[in-house]
Parts: sequence; C-alpha cells; structure tokens
Amino acid sequence: MNSQTLRDTAQALFAGNKGLLAMDESNGTCNKRFASLGIPQTIEARRAYRELIVTTMGLGECIGGAILYDETIRQQRSDGTPFVKVLIDAGIIPGIKVDTGAKELAGHPGEKVTEGLDGLRDRLAEYVRMGARFAKWRAVITIGDGIPSWGCIEANAQALARYAALCQEAGLVPVVEPEVLMDGEHTLEQCFEVTEEVLREVFCQLYTQRVMLEGMILKPNMVLPGSTCPKQEAIDEVADETVNCLLRAVPAAVPAIAFLSGGQSAELASARLNAMNVRFKSRLPWALAFSFARAIQQPALELWKGQETNVLAAQQALVHRARYNQAARRGEYSAEMEKR
Ligand code: 13P
Repeated sequence: MNSQTLRDTAQALFAGNKGLLAMDESNGTCNKRFASLGIPQTIEARRAYRELIVTTMGLGECIGGAILYDETIRQQRSDGTPFVKVLIDAGIIPGIKVDTGAKELAGHPGEKVTEGLDGLRDRLAEYVRMGARFAKWRAVITIGDGIPSWGCIEANAQALARYAALCQEAGLVPVVEPEVLMDGEHTLEQCFEVTEEVLREVFCQLYTQRVMLEGMILKPNMVLPGSTCPKQEAIDEVADETVNCLLRAVPAAVPAIAFLSGGQSAELASARLNAMNVRFKSRLPWALAFSFARAIQQPALELWKGQETNVLAAQQALVHRARYNQAARRGEYSAEMEKR
C-alpha cells in the first residue's frame, strides 16, 4: 500500500468543492427505478442511461468521482469508448461498488448484514486494472422495535473494516458507508443515538483492522427523523444535530465526510448540506461533502424516461443538481437557485 497515493486520491475526490456521484445502483435497484417510470429494464437501457450520465457536459467541474457498478465499469459509450476512459477524460475519478448486497442476518429478524468479503482481494485487483481508484461498501442499519441489535451493528462494522483494509492494501480509497435508514416512524433523537453508536463501532473496527483514516472517506446518513415520523425538524436543526453527532464519533484524521441522500428530496438534501457548511464549515476537521445517487440523478431520470430525444434535457438537470450540491459545499446554495 502506498499511503501517500491513498491520501492524494482522497483529497483529489473533493478538491474544488466537488463531490461524488453515486451511479452504482445494482441491476435490481436500477430496474426498480426504471420500472416506476415505464423504462424498459434491459441491459441496453441501463447502458444508455449510464452513457447519458458520463457524457454530460460540465459534470467534471462539480463531480470529483463517480461510483460505478460491476456491469457499468465494463461498459462503453455507443462509439466504443469505455465509460472509465470517458470519466477520466472529463476529470472524474472512477470508483466501484464492491459489496454484493445486504442479506438477512441469521438470528436477527428484520436486520441485514452486507456480504462480499469472499474473493474480494482478487476482485479489487481486477477493478484496479480497469482503472478504479476508490471503492464503496454499504451497510444498512434499520431502526425499529428493539432494533438495531448489537449483533447487527458489530457484524456490519467488522465487515466494513475488513473491506476497507483490503481496499487500502490494493491502493483503493475505501468509501465506508454505514447507512442508518430513514424508513420508519422513529424520531430525530433516535436516529442521532443509533448513528452515533454505529459510527463509534465502525471506527473501533477500522482501528482494529489497521485502516489508515487519512486514506478513507466516510459516507454516512444525515441525522434525520424517520420518513413517517410526525415531527419533521427544520433544516437548521437537522444540520446542527448531524454535525454534533459526527463531531462525537468521527476522528479528525478522516479527510472528508460525503453524505448519502437516502431518499430525501433533491432540494432538501442540498439545503441540509448547505446549512451544515454555512453554520460549521470553518470549525470542522473534515470536509462535508456529498455522495448522492437519487438526490443528483432522480430529476434527470424522470426527464429522460428512456427516450433519446430527452437526453439533453436530462443531462442539464443532472449537471444542475451537481452544481447546486457543489454550491452547498461552499455554503452558497439557496432555494432561489432552483428557479433560474
Ligand atoms: P442515495 O443518495 O440515493 O441514498 O444513494 C447513495 C448510495 O450510494 C447508496 O448506497
């Protein structure tokens, strides 16, 4: 492992107030999103959609890295240029999702553990040969009646740490994603408590597995009330609670925290990230950035609808959302920008 390379990559991903674009939906998730808009769920439709994304003009000015999926990293633009080369030429660093999905955790009804450690060293070596410079692994934690259990938190944290150590050995920056899900009626306070507990255990396991914190990225959820909780806090309160939670649990050596959007609307995700940077940016040890999938892609996907004639409009919507989030990193986003 070359630790300077890992540090340099981690810095480069977020230089210029850029962030990450997660375009690593598994085929199942991508098909589900396509089905809800009447788009055919075929390999060619998925390829065409990813071509739309990677060929968007100006994307490299606001996106520092794009996370691909195993199918996508092997695909090409219609003229035969590999997506990886298209991204690199646009100044976007290619990354890859390497977990194989969250499965039911035995003995823990309603809870999941993410799989994918078997054979991971060999798969990482192949992705490095293809041009990937960073990787992602997502663990999911559900808040509900009597859950999350300690068994679920510990198993997921340990898998994240073992994945992260293997990535660094291979020269890839690990994006460590423990996602406390928004689904449910739980309160913001409950989300705070669970997120803090999960992050503490994740960093404990990362330390145990000798992961170099300067060469990794944390991708957490924001601290939010459950999506069906009757009390929905204001943007500034969400910003304060999220940053306070992270300050308690995330070591200062971590260079950047890049949030997932988790099902928030695109506007709210931008506004909440903006509020965090407005209120705290000058006092934080790490950059606060974004690694959104839905909160960047959704408006574009809804415009595209699988039609060639809609590609340009969809690309414009995509780059607008990426720019708004770049502005949110600077603390310069406003809802007014959406109306221009
Ligand atoms: P969302 O921003 O849509 O939550 O996706 C982020 C992600 O990469 C999930 O793993």
